[in-house]
Amino acid sequence: MKPRILVTGGTGYIGSHTVVELQQAGYPVVIIDDLSNSNIEVLDGIERITGIRPDFVEADCTDIAAVRSLFDKYPGIKGIINFAASKAVGESMQKPVLYYRNNLNTLMNLLDVMAERDVKGIVFSSSCTVYGEPDVNPVTEQSPIKKATSPYGNTKQISEEIITDVINAGAPFKSVILRYFNPVGAHPSAEIGELPNGVPQNLIPFLTQTAIGIRKELSVFGNDYNTPDGSCIRDYIDVVDLAKAHVIAVERMLDDKSSEKIEIFNLGTGNGLSVLELINTFETATGVKVPHKIVGRRAGDIEKVWANPQYANEVLGWKAETPIADTMRSAWAWQCKLRERGIM
Ligand code: UD1
Repeated sequence: MKPRILVTGGTGYIGSHTVVELQQAGYPVVIIDDLSNSNIEVLDGIERITGIRPDFVEADCTDIAAVRSLFDKYPGIKGIINFAASKAVGESMQKPVLYYRNNLNTLMNLLDVMAERDVKGIVFSSSCTVYGEPDVNPVTEQSPIKKATSPYGNTKQISEEIITDVINAGAPFKSVILRYFNPVGAHPSAEIGELPNGVPQNLIPFLTQTAIGIRKELSVFGNDYNTPDGSCIRDYIDVVDLAKAHVIAVERMLDDKSSEKIEIFNLGTGNGLSVLELINTFETATGVKVPHKIVGRRAGDIEKVWANPQYANEVLGWKAETPIADTMRSAWAWQCKLRERGIM
């Protein structure tokens, strides 16, 4: 029997896909989520895919008493994957304290409880946002960290520093920090996917909502960047590929596969795609047109960033495998499923 894993934010977008992969790999899972940006019905989707309903505690990780009582109820948790965080860049500019309190207190509470309860390791969701506008692409884990341009981005940088300081101070656990590039797509079953609140800020949910007619047209933020077609370049990584990396990271810590107490990996494909190329890929893959127009640049956008994933490929033995066309089809199938269920 594999040890139980606590997934914070496990009903969210990346969290739910990771719970599926953990359960399929034989790990019992308990989710803690306050449902502030997700829906309890995600548990049904996870159960339909895996045949197993994960244990679920509705609580906020900034409430340390709630985290402790979860550990009382579910003894034997050996690993934590921490997804619970606020993640909207724009909102973080309006409500910085909310972001610092939520993201940092959650992490610090988990680190305290890990030491109390003999948890062996924590996987932390970080972001390529820590590299800011890189001087050189693709970025490696050694690329310089740039000053964060939003409180959201700053919480990721500070969180990485907190974990490093706590482990260097002799904490009795390990950590794997995963820097995600741009997670997109949905589970191929279309049972779970991304469910943004209100008007989506990120490209793919806005794109699929436009394709299905909820939005009139997609705005492409700028075509005057220093890129081949003038639109921004990102490294779009399939959410299921991303989820699988978490299972490997957990195993690495629990089985003491590395002598390092803290490790950092870039999770990307290694391919940069422009916004216009991505729209084109979606249209070709699905046969569905996406009405779009070029508008001005979005404040704070990075011109281009993509990963050098070689370190993760070689050391974790993980590689992004899903072709981007398949990812676009899964994103579309999920949007169609939401429509079928009358959700959107
Ligand atoms: C941002 C954050 C990243 C965070 C991610 C998920 C930064 C620098 N990046 O990524 O840390 O993890 O959100 O919340 O803070 N675009 C359009 N039209 C749209 C929406 C987006 O053209 O309607 C373009 C953007 O200009 C960008 C690309 O699509 O070039 C991707 O945008 P988005 O999905 O918002 O992600 P990022 O800004 O890369």
